[in-house]
Amino acid sequence: MSTRETWGSRAGFVLAAVGSAIGLGNIWRFPYIAFKNGGGAFLIPYIFALLTAGIPFMILEFGLGHKFRGSAPKTFASISKKWEWLGWLQIGITFVIGIYYVAVIGWAISYTFFSLTQAWGNAPKDFFFNQYLHLSSSPLELGSIQTGILITTLMAWIITWGVLHMGVRNGVEKISKIFMPLLFFMVLLIIGRTLTLDGAMNGLQWLFKPDFSKIMDYHVWTDAYGQIFYTLSIGFSIMITYASYLPKKSDINNNACMTVFINCGFSLLAGIMIFGILGHMAAKQGVGVDEVVSSGVGLAFITIPTAINTLPAPVFFGTLFFLSLTVAGLSSLISIVQPMVSAITDKFGCSHRRGVALICIPSIIFSIVFTTQGGLLLLDIVDHFINNFGILFCGLIEIILLSWICRLDVMREHVNAISEFRVGKAWTFCLRFVTPIVLGYMSICNAIGDLSANYGGYSDKAILYYGWGVLGILVLLALFLHNKKAIDSNYAVVDQSLWR
Ligand code: PFF
Repeated sequence: MSTRETWGSRAGFVLAAVGSAIGLGNIWRFPYIAFKNGGGAFLIPYIFALLTAGIPFMILEFGLGHKFRGSAPKTFASISKKWEWLGWLQIGITFVIGIYYVAVIGWAISYTFFSLTQAWGNAPKDFFFNQYLHLSSSPLELGSIQTGILITTLMAWIITWGVLHMGVRNGVEKISKIFMPLLFFMVLLIIGRTLTLDGAMNGLQWLFKPDFSKIMDYHVWTDAYGQIFYTLSIGFSIMITYASYLPKKSDINNNACMTVFINCGFSLLAGIMIFGILGHMAAKQGVGVDEVVSSGVGLAFITIPTAINTLPAPVFFGTLFFLSLTVAGLSSLISIVQPMVSAITDKFGCSHRRGVALICIPSIIFSIVFTTQGGLLLLDIVDHFINNFGILFCGLIEIILLSWICRLDVMREHVNAISEFRVGKAWTFCLRFVTPIVLGYMSICNAIGDLSANYGGYSDKAILYYGWGVLGILVLLALFLHNKKAIDSNYAVVDQSLWR
C-alpha cells in the first residue's frame, strides 16, 4: 500500500483548512445574517454556537481524519463496515456542491473583468439577469448554454484541476499559502479605503448596533448554528480528508481552534467591508441601509455593482471585490474536490493524478448545466435542498454515530494525547447533547417547512426532480459505492476500540 502524503507544515494545513472554511458564505451570507438577527447582539448566539458546536465538531473531524488516515468513506468503514455509506453520502454531497459552486465562481471571474469597465452600466439588475445570465422563466426550461459563463466556469475548473494535480503538499498547501494571505490583504485594502467614505461608519453602525430583543427568538439561534456549520465546512467529509494528511505528531485541538477563529475573524472583516460599502451607497441615495441590504447572489452581483457605481474608484473596488470572491471560492472548491479524489484513490487504488481526472471530468460535464439560461434557478433549488437536508442530515447522523453509538471518550483520548491543551467533559457534553439537539431540531423544522410548501414557489415537478430527486440519487449512489468491493483487502481495518 502506498504511503499517504502529508502536509509540509502546520501552517500549510491550517491555511488549507481555513481556505475551505472561508468561502462565498463568509462574504455574502454572514454579514446579512448578522444584520438580520440583532446586529452586534447576534455575536452572542454566534460565539455560543462556535464554542459549543464549531470547535468541538472541528476537533472531532480533525481527530477522525488523523486517527484513521483516510477519506470519509474509509474513516466510517474503519469504524464499522456497516457505516461506509455515510462517507459516500457526504462525498455525493460534495460532488453536487462542487458542480454548482464552480458556476458562481465563474460569474465572479466574469464580474472581475466587467469591473474594469463597469459593464453592468446603470442597471445592474437587468444586466445580471437578462444580459449576462439570459435567465429563463423556469428551472425546467434550461435553454441554451451561455458561452461567456461556460468559459469562466472552465477557467475555475482548470485552476482547480491544476492545483489538485500537483498533490496535497505541492498543490493545495502551496496555493493556500498564497491565496489566504492574498485574500486578507485584498479585503483589508478595500476596508481601508471604504472607511474613509461618507456614510461608511453609519453602515457599520447598522451592522453592529445590538438589538438584544432579537436573541430571545429561537430562529436567531438556529441561524447561528446553521451559519457555523456551513462556514466551517464541517459534517461533509472535507475536514476529515484534510486532517488525514496530518503527520502523526500534530496538535489537533490547537489547529482546530485556530481554523475556527481565523475563519470567524474573516467573517467579521467581510461584514465590515460589505456594510461599509452599503453605508456609503445608502448615504449617496439618501436612504437607510436597511433598504439596500441583501444577501447571496443578489448582494454580490446586483447590490455590490450598484454600490460600485457610487464609489470614487470603481475599478479599484470592483476588481478587488470580485477577485476576493473568486479567490475565496476557488480555495473552497479545491477543498470540495479533494475529498472525492481521496475517497476513490483509497477505495479503488488509482493513482492520485488519475483520481483527480476521474473526478474532474464528470464534474466539469455536469457543471455545464449550471451555465445554461435556467442555471441560476436550478442552482437555487439544488443548493437549498443540499444545505437544508444533505449537509444537515449527514452532520446529524455523523454526530449520533460518534457520540451515542460509539465511544466518544476514545476519540477524546486520541486528540488529547497529541495536543497541547486538553478537552474535557464539556467537549463530550457539547457533542453528545448540544449539537445533536440543535441539528435534530433544525432538521425537523426544515422537513416540515419543505413538506408543507414548495421552496421558493417553484413547481412540484421542479422540486421533485432537482430537490428530492437529487437527494434520492445521492442515497442510491452511496449505497452502490458502499457495496462495491475495495481493491485492497486492507482498505479499512475496523477499529474495535471505538465500540462500546
Ligand atoms: N465554508 C464555505 C463558505 O462559508 O462559503 C462554503 C463551503 C465550502 C460550502 C465547501 C461547501 C463546501 F463544500
